[in-house]
Amino acid sequence: SDLSSFKIAVIPGDGIGQEVMPEGLKIIELAANSVGITLELMQLDWACADYYLAHGVMLPEDWKKQLDGVDAIYFGAVGWPEVVPDHISLWDSLLQFRREFDQYINLRPVRTFAGVPFPLAGKAPGDIQYSIVRENTEGEYSSVGGVMFANTDREVVVQQSVFTRHGADRVLKYAYELAASSAPDSRRLTVATKSNGMAISMPWWDERAKAMSNNYPDVVWDKQHIDILCARLVLQPERFDVIVATNLFGDILSDLGPATTGTIGIAPSANLNPERVFPSLFEPVHGSAPDIAGKGIANPVGMIWSGAMMLDFLTQGDSRGRQAHDVILKAIEMVLANGPRTPDLGGDASTKEMGDAIAALVSASF
Ligand code: NAI
Ligand code: MG
Repeated sequence: SDLSSFKIAVIPGDGIGQEVMPEGLKIIELAANSVGITLELMQLDWACADYYLAHGVMLPEDWKKQLDGVDAIYFGAVGWPEVVPDHISLWDSLLQFRREFDQYINLRPVRTFAGVPFPLAGKAPGDIQYSIVRENTEGEYSSVGGVMFANTDREVVVQQSVFTRHGADRVLKYAYELAASSAPDSRRLTVATKSNGMAISMPWWDERAKAMSNNYPDVVWDKQHIDILCARLVLQPERFDVIVATNLFGDILSDLGPATTGTIGIAPSANLNPERVFPSLFEPVHGSAPDIAGKGIANPVGMIWSGAMMLDFLTQGDSRGRQAHDVILKAIEMVLANGPRTPDLGGDASTKEMGDAIAALVSASF
């Protein structure tokens, strides 16, 4: 396919999603144009409280059809609990995309920056730089199970974990590929496990990881039980490059990791369908932040960084997408170090001032 022109569905959503999205768009368009990539943006007012109030649902019935031919979804945040209960706003929008588009990889880069204080004592920015790869469709988060004898003394509840060879092998393959394509000194892969406690499924998962490792002789891999792995993300984060985990363990790690870097406002994420049969979705880790929404002070970095990941993914490692990504990251790094900074970082800049500063540096880099 043509790797010069992409169609992007733009869904700002609720709250600060609407405030950080313009900064993200401004910067990815600037970087994309500078490397010869054209973005065709399709603005959608779906997945927000206003849409719900007007239509009684979060998405139009034919949403999948309307997204036909879209290469990626650039997503702000969804949730406005005063108007829509959170389980509805999330399950009827974002989670629909993740499942219907088989976005089986949840990817979160985790890193610290000069200028952003973080809570780990005795660590320097640069000590924390790794990626978490979470399985996003099966495992512990299954819909197999039920409650019997409800509201009696015999009440019993069962929820099965469901692991498949198909599901495990594809997430492991992605993680090994990511490690193998990293710089030579960053090709370590850690497999999160719990084979001592979950003595059926996790030894099996470990075996799948071992089998996959045969294809990647350059990747140094190990497995760590999830409990000690959590401790090490706090105590020895410098020992990780890529971490791969099943759905539940990955969910926990991918909040713990960004928490060690200081502010949720900078963390990006990608929900990927690596085969590109369906569009992938790129979004900041944070939500709609009703407590600061409308003030124009949200940190736009998570949104901008997610956009940089999108450009890199879309061009499949092509040097232009990678260059656009790297230039944006460098600009983010400079602005985090030198300001202007939003209040969550201890500054007094607005969302737009911080976005403009990053845009100016991106612009000057080409
Ligand atoms: P949240 O991430 O929206 O906010 C948590 C705290 O972090 C708040 O104090 C907020 O002000 C701060 N914060 C978040 N992003 C920030 C940014 N960019 N700059 C500065 N400060 C920032 O999580 P919360 O409060 O639990 O959820 C609020 C709503 O967002 C709920 O409706 C929830 O369901 C939804 N949500 C949506 C997500 C998504 O769209 N992927 C993810 C998480 C929550
Ligand atoms: Mg979570």
